[in-house]
Amino acid sequence: MVRITKTMTTVAAVAVVSALALSGCGRAGTASEGSGDTASGFDAGATIGVALPQKTSENWVLAESLFNDGLKNADFKPEVQFANAGVTEQQNQITSMISNGAKVLIVGAVDGSQLDTQLQQAKDAGVTVIAYDRILKNTSAIDYYLAYDNYKVGQLQGQALLDGMSSKKSSGPYNIELFAGSNDDANSKPFFDGAMSVLQPKIDDGTVKVASGQMDQSAAATQGWKAENAQKRMDTLLAGFYTGTELDGVLSPNDTLARAVLTSVKAAGKPIPVVTGQDSEVESVKSIMAGEQYSTINKDTRDLVNAAIAMVKDLQQGNTPQTTSEQDNGTKQVPTKFLEPVIVTKENAAEAYANNPALEALTK
Ligand code: BGC
Repeated sequence: MVRITKTMTTVAAVAVVSALALSGCGRAGTASEGSGDTASGFDAGATIGVALPQKTSENWVLAESLFNDGLKNADFKPEVQFANAGVTEQQNQITSMISNGAKVLIVGAVDGSQLDTQLQQAKDAGVTVIAYDRILKNTSAIDYYLAYDNYKVGQLQGQALLDGMSSKKSSGPYNIELFAGSNDDANSKPFFDGAMSVLQPKIDDGTVKVASGQMDQSAAATQGWKAENAQKRMDTLLAGFYTGTELDGVLSPNDTLARAVLTSVKAAGKPIPVVTGQDSEVESVKSIMAGEQYSTINKDTRDLVNAAIAMVKDLQQGNTPQTTSEQDNGTKQVPTKFLEPVIVTKENAAEAYANNPALEALTK
């Protein structure tokens, strides 16, 4: 094993690291810039564990093949697993990835507050832990967090809901209902809080009304992100509060739930309200182009997976991945890289999907 000291020049260090990487031999170490500390890399060709949650939206399904292909192309050995049966299955998968010698764990948690024991095992084994899309909470055993800015997603949804309603009807009061994601998903809170940061002032000044009075996240939650749960709740809300009142808008945190809300409204024979979404799922982009769902969010899965693989490459070479901010996970400030989500409506869909041929084709 070659140790590179801080007295070596960067050029020399890069040359040695590259030579090691090319020859595929030994562990590569390099001086981390400025601090004089040494950070170790690991073997090219190492196993990288990717623990994904249930297939509750298209982005997770896409991530599986993107991680498998991208990690293989970068000469790593991917081990990508879905935890279809939930938390216990994901805990077991993480433990087995550690015993299979994974050097990095990329975790899209089912419930990010239930993995501390397994993540501590990872730390003890020298594994770097990256939280992917959903932060891992109340654990010190997390090194990086990589996601689209979830609070921003919520703000964009809240603003789209207001814009959509005012384009249909020039003045309020507007009647809306609120849907949130699953309570075990750490993203559900920033989505909801971001949206409420935009909607609450309008509720306070009377422009917007929530006829059911179900205004907090727990009342609005959709267990397991399941379409049937959102559809049932919408059926109940329509029957209970909208027999003589028009529903103008629905805050939906993602596309799957947006389509469930639309199914319920249509079954009740009501006019279609403004409904938000997220993920740019194929069926929702079609619905937006047909003038039904109002908006979605573009969080290109290819970019998020590529950013994760770029982090893995940095770590392999002993470099510190670049981050843009820090997020508090309840235990520590986690170095975070956020990508920017983009709001999409019928108006900007062609432009928003210009570099995504499969989605762009739907906008023609
Ligand atoms: C993701 C969303 C997705 C939801 C359900 C969230 O954690 O950020 O993109 O719609 O999970 O799968």
